[in-house]
Amino acid sequence: MPDPANHRRAAITAVAAYVPDRVLTNAELAKNLDTSDDWIVTRTGIRERRIGKPGETTSTMGAEAVRRLMSQRGLGPGDIDALIVATVTPDMLFPATACLIQDQLGLTGTWGFDLSAACSGFLYALTAGAQLIASGAHRRVVIVGADLMSSIIDPLDRTTAVLFGDGAGAVLLEPAEPDYGILDFYHRVDGSGRNDLLMPAGGSSLPPSAATVAARQHYLKQNGKVVFKFAVSQMVESIQAVLSRNNLTARDVALVVPHQANQRILDAVAERLGVPHERVASVLACYGNTTGATLPLALDAALAAGNITRGDIVVFAAVGAGFTAGATLVRWA
Ligand code: ACO
Repeated sequence: MPDPANHRRAAITAVAAYVPDRVLTNAELAKNLDTSDDWIVTRTGIRERRIGKPGETTSTMGAEAVRRLMSQRGLGPGDIDALIVATVTPDMLFPATACLIQDQLGLTGTWGFDLSAACSGFLYALTAGAQLIASGAHRRVVIVGADLMSSIIDPLDRTTAVLFGDGAGAVLLEPAEPDYGILDFYHRVDGSGRNDLLMPAGGSSLPPSAATVAARQHYLKQNGKVVFKFAVSQMVESIQAVLSRNNLTARDVALVVPHQANQRILDAVAERLGVPHERVASVLACYGNTTGATLPLALDAALAAGNITRGDIVVFAAVGAGFTAGATLVRWA
């Protein structure tokens, strides 16, 4: 827990999003896969997702989100101190996507790095960025969540192909006024879940080869039921942990912004917390699971809909491959 006596909080002071134009509907997926719009909507809540066009990458999507963020706030190329990119689909293993975005936008005086925590990546990056503000080292840190999931999803696997989409979001962190901004975070990892959600090949344990390609090992694999149960229990536990140690209850929460994986996960989290469904942000129907981008996309939509006002308690929650999990408590500035 941050030391309140010695702590300069960070606040999210701007939010921007970018999704590709191309819409892929359930009906289109059902033309090539043994699935149906009815199965996908009933089991996941997803109706359509966005898919990047040829040449579009995680860095180009992320750069567009940051470009929109900068123009919203009138920021110039020299105004951003650091850039942290949460992604599991970097343009390449190295250089980092943060370097590619910095170059595309011509940012001067910016350093940055990529952060790998799968669907919890954006939340972990938010925490890392907040510490750069808290230490007094920086005044403007940009956090990007971006994933071109279509690059690692097996189009022949109906159990995963229907779930994911492409997109990017970005937020600006700046020093907060007293009592506002990021109040607390609770994160944990549990590597015993490493085989339940993974992309097996392409890293040092299984370098690319004709055999890994033939075995379709460069695609995301998951044990959906295990992930589902872990997602519900860990999102609830993380939210309750961060609320209770700040003497808050679910009744104090204006909006829960959870990682978007499956509407049934969100409904189960709402029920267990005792939060009405309308206070749990969801953009699943239109974007599906965009991994690193789900939280900023959901936040952007909630702000556009007027669902967050100054002073509101907002709780972000995420669970992802690893397993990784966490929740972040914010008093909206
Ligand atoms: N269309 C039609 N049938 C399907 C499809 C599909 N797209 N996918 C699976 N099925 C079939 C299965 O083969 C199975 O058939 P069977 O009974 O003949 O074997 C049947 O539907 C039921 O399958 P289940 O796996 O029991 O379906 P379930 O209700 O568990 O839903 C799902 C599967 C959607 C994957 C769910 O488990 C889930 O959402 N899990 C969470 C996974 C997730 O979100 N991962 C994302 C990354 S991690 C994260 O973001 C937290």
